[in-house]
Amino acid sequence: MKIVRVLILLTFFLGCQKEKISKCDDSIGLFTFSSYPIGTAIDINELEFNPIYKSIAIKQFNSITPENIFKAEYIHPEPLFFNWSQADSLTSFCEQNNKRLYGHTLIWHKQLPQWILNFEGSSSDWEQLMKTHIQTIVTHFKNKVTAWEVVNEAFNEDGTLRNNIWKQKIGSGYIEKAFVFAQEADPNALLFYNDYNLEMNLTKRHSVLSLFNNLRNRGVRVDGIGMQMHVNTSYPEPSQIASAFQEIAANNFKIHVSELDISINPFDHNIEPSEKLLTEQANLLGNIVFNYNEIPDQYQYGITFWGISDKNSWIRNYYNREDYPLLYDDNYLPKTCYCKLIETL
Ligand code: G3I
Repeated sequence: MKIVRVLILLTFFLGCQKEKISKCDDSIGLFTFSSYPIGTAIDINELEFNPIYKSIAIKQFNSITPENIFKAEYIHPEPLFFNWSQADSLTSFCEQNNKRLYGHTLIWHKQLPQWILNFEGSSSDWEQLMKTHIQTIVTHFKNKVTAWEVVNEAFNEDGTLRNNIWKQKIGSGYIEKAFVFAQEADPNALLFYNDYNLEMNLTKRHSVLSLFNNLRNRGVRVDGIGMQMHVNTSYPEPSQIASAFQEIAANNFKIHVSELDISINPFDHNIEPSEKLLTEQANLLGNIVFNYNEIPDQYQYGITFWGISDKNSWIRNYYNREDYPLLYDDNYLPKTCYCKLIETL
């Protein structure tokens, strides 16, 4: 008799779960299901000229990351000229719609304006250039940007420091100086370091943790680590992700899953977004979110997707391939992974 009762309960439970997934739509905003912010990267041109894109951004997400317009080539295009227009427009959007704003990114080796690439000067001239860049931007957005991503992608896969222009011109101390400059300009903003492959490259992750623990020991404030999480259905293993979350949190760093997308065509095969592939994508997203939920609340800065619709994904342009890595399809309809996200939050 007991086995019958168990079977009845199991059938009822599975029926409810099926009902929940089958009924999944995006009528209720994602972030309302979550105890931590759910964000998206925003393309300012889509926000300004695509009403469907804008409505999804407002309804589904409560944290915003500028995909490009806070980067040096856009915001500091000339030595004495800062282009605030689009950045201020995004800031106003966030204020009007009660969205948190994450400042991506202050110091990176890509998307630099020509004048910086061509700049000629001493190490202290370069340090002054970096200080002016950081402190002018951070001061402009003081009390409007919740957290600054001070440095992006400073490490190589072998755990050594990337020999980028900042390291070449200022030395390996540029990272510490950047965090100090940002802290001086806005003592209230959280300060993050951001990189990719931290979930699967132990060597790189350990070098990152070692450097930033060392900076902390020297009295430099570093609040969090951004894990980009540009992953795919072939890697990483969920166990790797869980270990990474636990290790970074154990080092007392907030974790921002900062650029999440899940490629279903990492090897550029001629694919269609089959139900099988979309289910694999949803299952990996479920594992990521389940493991993120397991870390202590004080380390959960949030999960940010690197775009809204597959149509907007950088992957298609950068790799020139078909791919479907985000929550919404090309028609701005929620996908299987959207439903799995709601189920798991
Ligand atoms: O703004 C110009 C536009 O004027 C021109 O007409 C157009 C023609 O190609 O190019 C536009 O610039 C493009 C820019 O995105 C804005 O759309 C650049 O060519 C293009 O390279 C740039 O790509 C961005 C990429 O970073 C650059 O490395 C992607 O949108 C952006 O999603 C991507 O994001 C990075 C993160 O910032 C850091 N982590 C990795 C992530 C993926 O690469």
